[in-house]
Amino acid sequence: MISILRTIEELNHFRQKISGTVGFVPTMGALHEGHASLLRQARKQSDHVILSIFVNPTQFNDSKDLENYPRTLETDQILAEREGVDALFIPQYNDLYPDHYLYEVIEKKWSHLFCGAYREGHFNGVLTIVLKLLNLVQPHSAFFGEKDYQQLRLIQEMVKAFFLKVQIVPVETCREADGLAMSSRNVRLTPKDRQRAPLFHQCLKSAPSAQAARQKLEEHGFRVEYIEDWENRRLGALYLGAVRLIDNVKIEH
Ligand code: PAF
Repeated sequence: MISILRTIEELNHFRQKISGTVGFVPTMGALHEGHASLLRQARKQSDHVILSIFVNPTQFNDSKDLENYPRTLETDQILAEREGVDALFIPQYNDLYPDHYLYEVIEKKWSHLFCGAYREGHFNGVLTIVLKLLNLVQPHSAFFGEKDYQQLRLIQEMVKAFFLKVQIVPVETCREADGLAMSSRNVRLTPKDRQRAPLFHQCLKSAPSAQAARQKLEEHGFRVEYIEDWENRRLGALYLGAVRLIDNVKIEH
């Protein structure tokens, strides 16, 4: 039976009574098969799996995006149970931000590029909440999807910078049959946009350069934010209607 932990006290109590390795999957909910693959990896590698669901306001630079973020706790709990999660941590803002965000983690180099260039303060919010959650949960390993590649790399570097005793495990992007990267935002695509959304992945993969991928996507009517090559990956973000999608692929040489 899954334990539902609503407060830090309940989390501490759960954490004290278990022994063995703990795998942690932090999420903002609206769980889909991509999250399920993180949970499966955590299940494989750990004696206990803790999942957190918290829609973190400090990483949203657009209040509309925060408002519209899907909240589906009931179905999330069903998926968590199906994947054998031992504990679901669902804290409130005041539990996690007793300081009302007076303190934050600031990364001064990579967080301003790519997604960071378009979402001011986004990665400070991500790094701050991840640091808080890692400190609270005290996992042996924590699992993050490669779809959010910049986020994954910044978290890996933060863990090194602050000497955190946790292993960060990258998990490959889960895709729909047509190649679209799974995302909680996909449900907000109109049927027409959903149909052309896989072109994003196709262009990232097949274009000879980032610039060529951008051009192709713009020809197809996508509103491109950025397409850039970084660390042997091609990263991109774009809008389909009001929905912002991100993706990245390994660059094959
Ligand atoms: O990737 C996410 O869902 C979020 O950015 C995370 C890591 C849970 C922090 O809120």
